[in-house]
Amino acid sequence: MSHFLPLSRVTRLVGISRHALQEMIRCGTLDTFDGMVELNELLRAFPDAKWEDDAELRRVTEIKEKAFGKRVFERAMPDKEVLSARLLELGNEYAATKALLMHYSQVLSWLDEKIDEIEEDQSKETRHALHSLRAFIVRHLAEIPPDAAKIQAVIAQERILKIMSAQVTIRPSGHEFTVEGNDTLLEAALRAGVSLNYGCSNGNCGECRARLISGEVKKVHAHDYVLSQAEKDAGVFLMCSCAAVNDVVIEAGVAGAQDIPEQQLAARVKSVEVFNPQIAALHLLAPRSQRLHFLAGQSIRLSALGASGEYPIASCPCEERHIEIQILRKPDDAFSELLFGGLKVHDSVEVEGPYGEFVLEDASTRPLIFVAFGVGFAPIKSLVQHAMSLDLAESMDMHWLADDAGHYQDNLCRSWADALDNFTYIPHEQTTDTETALANIVSDYPDLHRFDVYAAGTPEQLQSAKRLFLKQGLPEQHWRASPDDSPRSVG
Ligand code: FES
Repeated sequence: MSHFLPLSRVTRLVGISRHALQEMIRCGTLDTFDGMVELNELLRAFPDAKWEDDAELRRVTEIKEKAFGKRVFERAMPDKEVLSARLLELGNEYAATKALLMHYSQVLSWLDEKIDEIEEDQSKETRHALHSLRAFIVRHLAEIPPDAAKIQAVIAQERILKIMSAQVTIRPSGHEFTVEGNDTLLEAALRAGVSLNYGCSNGNCGECRARLISGEVKKVHAHDYVLSQAEKDAGVFLMCSCAAVNDVVIEAGVAGAQDIPEQQLAARVKSVEVFNPQIAALHLLAPRSQRLHFLAGQSIRLSALGASGEYPIASCPCEERHIEIQILRKPDDAFSELLFGGLKVHDSVEVEGPYGEFVLEDASTRPLIFVAFGVGFAPIKSLVQHAMSLDLAESMDMHWLADDAGHYQDNLCRSWADALDNFTYIPHEQTTDTETALANIVSDYPDLHRFDVYAAGTPEQLQSAKRLFLKQGLPEQHWRASPDDSPRSVG
């Protein structure tokens, strides 16, 4: 009886990144069948894995959760109906396996009787052969295979993962993600950095419609949007209202920057976080009924109390209703002055957007270099969190070149580096000689043609950086910058 595991579950069982697993498949050190790994192949490819102990996986997950400030406990357990459906499925699977084993046991008894029958009229040689066959079967049935304990431990771990989470594969894009705890499919996709089409996120607009190809989903939130009978018959459901009962394959649209419509909403000030006299973060909360749909790295326009300005978003789309903006204090920027003096918790702020195409190329598995000049850290922070969610890049190096405001979120960057083996944080002190600082960075990458570079700063800083990176061999199509050349780009 073969036992197959999906790749995303293998990454969690073994505790390695998706990129590392893909590399093994590419190099031929791990065999897959139809995107799945057979259990014995898994044991062969990872002979040193500690199957009985998932402490390491839990430790990394906890550090990641702390670093991203997620509300772990609130969403840790699946919805109770989903949980009981998963337990029922597991029970059925157990019953089917037990029935099969009983059947095999009966077949063996028949075989034993059959051998007795045949043996009676046979020659001495045939009787001897039949006797050897019976001894062979009895001996092997009595023997405990050397890998039995490991196999049992892997299956036990996998079953726990199956109860606590489900795998989702999206057609035709091929994206995959895991639905954890009580998340809906939409929440889980956004958390995983997958930008699905959606609108209101609470069952009103129908923009998040998807079609179930295989597996089972369950409605966990009521919705006002009415699906037609024909849609229901075709397996159409709303991703913002449904959770996955088991591993599912769905047909759904993935949105690029150009696909996301401009939105307007009234957010509330959740807090103002002053890092130092030069820079502060504005934390906004979008209304429950209208979450802002954006991609990491995009910008929005904010207006309040007669002042307005356009700024890159510093938070990740995975953070539900929370939107973070980091703003440098400038006398000629009335909104920045408002942030340092006039705005109070619960004040209303008009939000328009999103704008810009400074977004991650999420299909790329190339190693990433992020270059943040001063407050250019804001969109880079958003992109880094998105890249971490996708977990596809071979490595991520983040260079932060300080200005007067310094490395105002130094601890956060260090916590990312502590949590992830493939993330490196390189802070650079403030200097008047940016050209030399950049030349030093570039000289560390003799193989720049392999990388994607994302940079954010002033147009002058970006011009110097682009020139040096391209001179060192970075293909121009691997360079992305904020602000870009588009009319809506920000500084
Ligand atoms: S996003 Fe509007 S109904 Fe799901």
